[in-house]
Amino acid sequence: MILLGVNIDHAATLRQARYRQAGVAMAGNIEPDPVALAFLCEKAGADGITVHLREDRRHIVEQDVLRLGAIRTTRLNLEMACTPAMTAFALKLKPHSVCLVPENRAEVTTEGGLDVVKHRDKVARVTDAMNVAGIKTSLFIDPEPEQIELSAKLKVPWIELHTGAYANAYHGAGRAAEFKRLVDGAQQAHAAGLVVNAGHGINYVNITEVRTIPHLHELNIGHSIISRALFSGINEAVRTMKRLMNP
Ligand code: PXP
Repeated sequence: MILLGVNIDHAATLRQARYRQAGVAMAGNIEPDPVALAFLCEKAGADGITVHLREDRRHIVEQDVLRLGAIRTTRLNLEMACTPAMTAFALKLKPHSVCLVPENRAEVTTEGGLDVVKHRDKVARVTDAMNVAGIKTSLFIDPEPEQIELSAKLKVPWIELHTGAYANAYHGAGRAAEFKRLVDGAQQAHAAGLVVNAGHGINYVNITEVRTIPHLHELNIGHSIISRALFSGINEAVRTMKRLMNP
């Protein structure tokens, strides 16, 4: 069975669109509360909750993460940049896992995988610290052979294959090639002993093909589930995605 991690950042984005100035003290008292939503996602069958605490705190804020850490009933996966400040935060929080992602202030959302080849030393400092603390590390990478090869050398247990390029190509001529990159990447990672997760841009349409990527352990999905919940409620949105993932 493929597991579902629900990324709740977009609920926080909606909150911050109105209440950015209200301050963190009000984080649980104004709507929509992403932590309350996480609770409902878990009740609907989510296997984990993912949040990205960005440097600019544009959606999720520290208080959300701390409250989530206290109330969660499944696993908390913290997406973070490879910075000393975020490393210190994660070591104190001790989430079940961290996922290292690139962070660029100008981007609307994460736009590509982390270049572990280019940033090898920086990434290794964080993965070493997490390994010592017993926190599982995942590397969010593009499905490129050299990125996967180095990820295995860095002794992380997991990778998350970036499915964004595939999702963008879904309705165009490049779809088959992008899908093949994901399949090849998953096979290479599995052979190297890595657990294979995937995420970004997965929706209720492309999931029927995404789920056929071999060796998938978990998918992290945010935007499509939060968007569907506006119409159907979060319970139905999570349950339907899980059903499509595991028909
Ligand atoms: N995985 C990672 C590492 C991400 O950065 C994101 C986007 O925040 C997601 C998964 C979820 O992407 P989406 O919101 O497009 O489902």
